[in-house]
Amino acid sequence: MPFPVTRMRRLRATPALRGLVRETTLDAGDLLLPIFVHEHEERLPIGAMPGVDRLSVADAVAEAKECERLGVAGLVLFGIPDAKDAEGSQAWADDGVVQRAIRAIKAEVPGVIVVADLCLCEYTDHGHCGILQTTAAGLTTVDNDASLPLLARTAVAQARAGADLVAPSDMMDGHVAAIRTALDQAGFPEMPVMSYSSKFASAFYGPFREAADSTPASGDRRGYQMDPGNGDEAVRESLIDVEEGADILMVKPALPYLDVIWRVKQASRVPVCAYNVSGEYAMVKAAAAAGFIDERAVVLETLTAIRRAGADIVITYHAKDAASWLL
Ligand code: PBG
Repeated sequence: MPFPVTRMRRLRATPALRGLVRETTLDAGDLLLPIFVHEHEERLPIGAMPGVDRLSVADAVAEAKECERLGVAGLVLFGIPDAKDAEGSQAWADDGVVQRAIRAIKAEVPGVIVVADLCLCEYTDHGHCGILQTTAAGLTTVDNDASLPLLARTAVAQARAGADLVAPSDMMDGHVAAIRTALDQAGFPEMPVMSYSSKFASAFYGPFREAADSTPASGDRRGYQMDPGNGDEAVRESLIDVEEGADILMVKPALPYLDVIWRVKQASRVPVCAYNVSGEYAMVKAAAAAGFIDERAVVLETLTAIRRAGADIVITYHAKDAASWLL
């Protein structure tokens, strides 16, 4: 029944009424904060990401405590080792910086969820997400199948250190199955896998690569990350990851891919995480610093929109700020 019988404004009249009929709410308990851990004591600011620094293991523990205080569900850990090599061996080293950070956080703040990002690009000297091969035609590419055992080995090292979740972001085919099998064989059948199943080859990762020192030395990641034009492919790859044993799916970046979040959620019905990435964060921070937008309002609206699109969990560099505004 249209106007005047139906008046949509009736339920918009007061904050209380708007709250009563609000479909999507934001809760700090659905947010994860990504952090960068390096092997140095001093904090190292990241140029394009005001408020985000490279942290020591001790500062990572302090960050975990702060998350607990604010009700942020947990952290996503990225390691920046001093020594990089062709295989990325610090990714699975028992005393690698991420493994040390996981142990330290779980020892002091056991209630905070620790997600271990599982990729080789921060650990390889060439900056790619797997090991390289040169084809007969003289082309250098990432060797999918040869990279799988290294990823599986990294997952086991992260599990041994005490991670609550491993999150493979490498975009190799068959990675979830390889990781699941290795975890099961190593005695970690209960360890959940959160797969970056729809990870697009995105320009929005620019600031992260400065933060993690992981810009590919040559070429780009379009040979393994997804083409930004593809939605069907994202759904297809997500369903493959579920079949391989993924417990949570991820769409990344978030804001330019809200339709993909929606589609993956509808098609899979498994918990979906969206990664509000470094470039999305940098744009908000830059616009806010210039006085062009209201940072608090924009962040809360953005995170609500990502949740409305179907994300159960949001990884965001705004997590602590958002949580403090929601308190
Ligand atoms: C590593 C990885 C990347 C991000 C998360 N994990 C970078 C990349 O693929 O180049 C990006 C996160 C961000 O931009 O905030 N594979």
